[in-house]
Amino acid sequence: MKIGFGCDHAAIDLKNELLVYMREKGYECVDYGTNYDENGEIIKCDYPQKGEQVGRAVVSGEVDYGVLMCGTGIGISIAANKVPGVIAAVCSEPYSARLTKQHNNANIIAFGARVVGTEVAKMILDEFFGAEFEGGRHQKRVDMIFDIERRNNK
Ligand code: RB5
Repeated sequence: MKIGFGCDHAAIDLKNELLVYMREKGYECVDYGTNYDENGEIIKCDYPQKGEQVGRAVVSGEVDYGVLMCGTGIGISIAANKVPGVIAAVCSEPYSARLTKQHNNANIIAFGARVVGTEVAKMILDEFFGAEFEGGRHQKRVDMIFDIERRNNK
């Protein structure tokens, strides 16, 4: 499984810690930034850019899932959700992280570096990547979400 990580300037340290954590667990991870430059300065970016970049990477199949972080996780997930085919969910605790995979078939999980600590973020990832979409009655509802997208995209 290939996972794409993206963040804005608010979440670089958390993103880098989680990259180490997930790579040690054997996941193939792609770092879409942002990062520090060679002088230790933050490479500034706006969260919509990273949301779109990782969203497109997921939908195109470049990666299987995305992990997005900004200060709250909200702005970057809103941006990712504008890419047709993305279901990005902001989760600040592990229970929601498991359920959004099982019921919503989320392909991107997001959280805020100013909201969750590193250990909670690891638990969120463990739950999300340890869960499977359950299909069945949930498939119908996910289909309804994509139907909204189809009917409202010009
Ligand atoms: C950046 O300061 C902050 O607005 C951003 O990281 C995020 O929290 C937006 O939703």
